[in-house]
This record gives sequence, C-alpha cells and structure tokens, in this order.
Amino acid sequence: MKKGEKGILIGIAVVSLGMMLVQGFMVSQEDEKDPGIPFYSTASKEVQSQASVLYRKYDCRDCHSLWGLRNIMQAVPAPSLDGMGSLRSEDWLYAYFSAEDPQTILPSRLKKRFQMPSFAHLPEAERRLLARYIASLKVEDWYLKETQKAEYEKLTGEEYQP
Ligand code: HEC
Repeated sequence: MKKGEKGILIGIAVVSLGMMLVQGFMVSQEDEKDPGIPFYSTASKEVQSQASVLYRKYDCRDCHSLWGLRNIMQAVPAPSLDGMGSLRSEDWLYAYFSAEDPQTILPSRLKKRFQMPSFAHLPEAERRLLARYIASLKVEDWYLKETQKAEYEKLTGEEYQP
C-alpha cells in the first residue's frame, strides 16, 4: 500500500469516527429534550386498581381508549379518556355517570347503540369510584398547547400565536 493511500484510509477512519461521536451526542441530546408521555393519573394505586376492575366489568374499553388501549374488535367513535380529568371535574363525572339519560348532559349525534350508556343503576360507591378515577386522569399542559396549536393551524392554515 502506498504511503498516500494509507493516509487517505486513516483520514476516512478519523472522519467516520468523528461522525459517530457527533451522532451519539445528538441522540443523547434528543433524549434529554423528549418530554415523555403526556398522560398520568393522580389517583392512589389502590383507587387505580379498584377502578380498573370496574372499567373492565362495565366494558368501557369496548368504546373508549385509555392509556392508548381499547378493544380493537369494536369501532365506536367515542372520545378517548386519556387526560379526561383535565377537561371534566369529579362532580361533573359523577353526575354524568348517574344520569338516567347521559345525552341530556352531553348531546350525541351517534346511533343509540354507540352512545354513552346510562350507569345510573350502578351502586353509588361504584359511580363515585369511577368518577374519582376518571377525574384523576390528567394531561400535561405542554401537550394540550401542542394539540391546540396543531388544531388551530389545521383549521386556519395560519401560524398559531398564543
Ligand atoms: C357503547 C359504547 C360506550 C360504553 C360501553 C361506554 N361509553 Fe363512555 N361514551 C361513549 C360515547 C359515544 C361518548 C360521547 C357522548 C355520546 O355520544 O353519548 C361517551 C362519553 C363518555 C364520557 C364523557 C367524555 C367527554 O368528552 O366529556 C366519559 C367520561 C365516559 N364516556 C366514560 C365512560 C366510562 C367510565 C365507561 C364505563 C363505565 C363508559 N364510558 C362506557 C360510549 C361508551
């Protein structure tokens, strides 16, 4: 191998090593900036596990998604419950679950079989627990703002200025 060729090979090796270092640096910087999953619950572990039992028992997941999960066999266009506690209070939720006709509180354009069913027949303790749990499902402010911004720009085609 000629001297010049050796030099070029070493040069290439040095440059690619450098690029790997820069890339590694950029990836670790991205990790730091990643704000993570925006949804969380403020309820105690006990409330969370008791409520999950009811959530399964009453088939909420046939229609709603929560923590990104839902029954994939169903295709009901119900709102996701992630972050619902940032939108509705515990009192509101309790009244909603207790209503004989939930559509008087939240009107629906869906067919009857897709609409939110009444849970007025549930024992009061269960309605309270569900309301408490759903009210504990929060969403981080930065995510709400990002969604608002995206929604605004999609609807208006203009840049969002808060
Ligand atoms: C048959 C499908 C179905 C089932 C089962 C169901 N829901 Fe709903 N839910 C809906 C729909 C659809 C809406 C939107 C309002 C409407 O169209 O009636 C809704 C609305 C809601 C809302 C209000 C959302 C908002 O935007 O304020 C909450 C909270 C909720 N459901 C919680 C639950 C919980 C908890 C369960 C289980 C105990 C449950 N739902 C079971 C379909 C369902």
